[in-house]
Amino acid sequence: MRITIFGTGYVGLVTGACLAEVGNDVLCLDVDAGKLARLEAGDIPIFEPGLAPLVRENRQAGRLAFSGDAARGVAHAEVIFIAVGTPPDEDGSADLSHVLAVARSIGAHLTRPVVVVNKSTVPVGTADRVRKAIAAELATRGVVVAFEVVSNPEFLKEGDAVNDCLRPDRIVIGSDSEHAVAQLRRLYAPFNRNHERIVVMDVRSAELTKYAANAMLATKISFMNEMANIAERVGADIEQVRRGIGSDPRIGYHFIYAGAGYGGSCFPKDVNALDRTAREHGYRPRLLEAVEAVNAAQKGRVHELMRGHFGSLRGRRFALWGLAFKPNTDDMREAASRTLLERLWADGALVRAWDPEALAETRRIYGERDDLVLCTDPWSALEGTDALVVMTEWKAFRSPDFARIRSALSEPVIFDGRNMYEPQVVEEAGLAYYGIGRGRSV
Ligand code: UGA
Repeated sequence: MRITIFGTGYVGLVTGACLAEVGNDVLCLDVDAGKLARLEAGDIPIFEPGLAPLVRENRQAGRLAFSGDAARGVAHAEVIFIAVGTPPDEDGSADLSHVLAVARSIGAHLTRPVVVVNKSTVPVGTADRVRKAIAAELATRGVVVAFEVVSNPEFLKEGDAVNDCLRPDRIVIGSDSEHAVAQLRRLYAPFNRNHERIVVMDVRSAELTKYAANAMLATKISFMNEMANIAERVGADIEQVRRGIGSDPRIGYHFIYAGAGYGGSCFPKDVNALDRTAREHGYRPRLLEAVEAVNAAQKGRVHELMRGHFGSLRGRRFALWGLAFKPNTDDMREAASRTLLERLWADGALVRAWDPEALAETRRIYGERDDLVLCTDPWSALEGTDALVVMTEWKAFRSPDFARIRSALSEPVIFDGRNMYEPQVVEEAGLAYYGIGRGRSV
């Protein structure tokens, strides 16, 4: 099929590459000329495993192209995806200006029937607004063209996005048009082979499904962080509690890891936006408020533990392993490491940091400063420091040489913001250990 995707950000680029991979003719559009130039040159602006070869191969095969020309994009497509950003507004609600600008541009150029698919995470009711915006442009031009607007939210995880796109758990299609559903069933057939993954529903339910999924996952994390804080005070170990409850299939083992709080571009933004939507409709979402409040407090937890251990942090030097909001990405949006860095700096401490992917992003965000040294490997980060802090659960941090860590630190102590290590193993190596919810109250 001929597909156009507005927005070559994270979602648009991954979706475009995966749809091209199964044989579609995909044109990816963006208003950012610099980004298009990079993509044309084969340079992928985000770090995502498997994405660069997928883009390269499909471009070479002639199934994937980039353009800044909206008229060409609209003329190209049987199905148009809207995958532009919905950054939070000042009040926390999703800013729809990019989505609606794309809708207007579709209306301004449309000449033959098309299915418009909303992939961006948008508040309930946005498909209606997109429909109205397209219709208004068509009316201004005095033309009549049939079009449908479908909600088809994405459930990609950063770091695993290509896999999630090629092998989705579910494909949610929100539409009351049989024709549009049939078109999308055809488009998604290659990803829907072994068992039925397509769930068809009305547009508003599909829009809410996306927020409900992310809010549920964020709730699981905040719940476990709450349990961890209780565990700490009563002398229990949240890691054992986790194994104890995960064995119940109604609870499950996934996504119940206590830690330094959730970050990223999705959970904080989406929980907040859903909170706003609920309020706008006259409902105060008490559970969502609590999920957000627990997470905000949790992001300060490692700093509290450090203060508890050292007292004043002024003049202290710390090694920090892990800057990205989670492993396998260079994304630092809402990362717990940032809360920690900023609090340590405010206390007058110096940080020597290492991350396998996010050093350039850290430099971009914070620039050059005297109290931040970005290191070229995990061991140089330890040089001349008092203690080690781990903030991202990169695989490479799982089994370090604890004896070497101990000898590098002036004060042998590890603050483990992701519960990567067994306290006993660390303590046997001669280091003090602080985790999240591991039976130690400070
Ligand atoms: C999330 C969802 O997992 C995706 O399904 C969704 O499509 C995406 O948002 C989106 O809306 O676009 P992502 O933001 O990439 O994906 O990150 P996650 O892997 O969900 O991790 C989020 C944060 O939660 C990370 O900071 C991670 O360290 C933390 N986390 C995760 C925990 O603290 N504990 C856990 O048990 C799991």
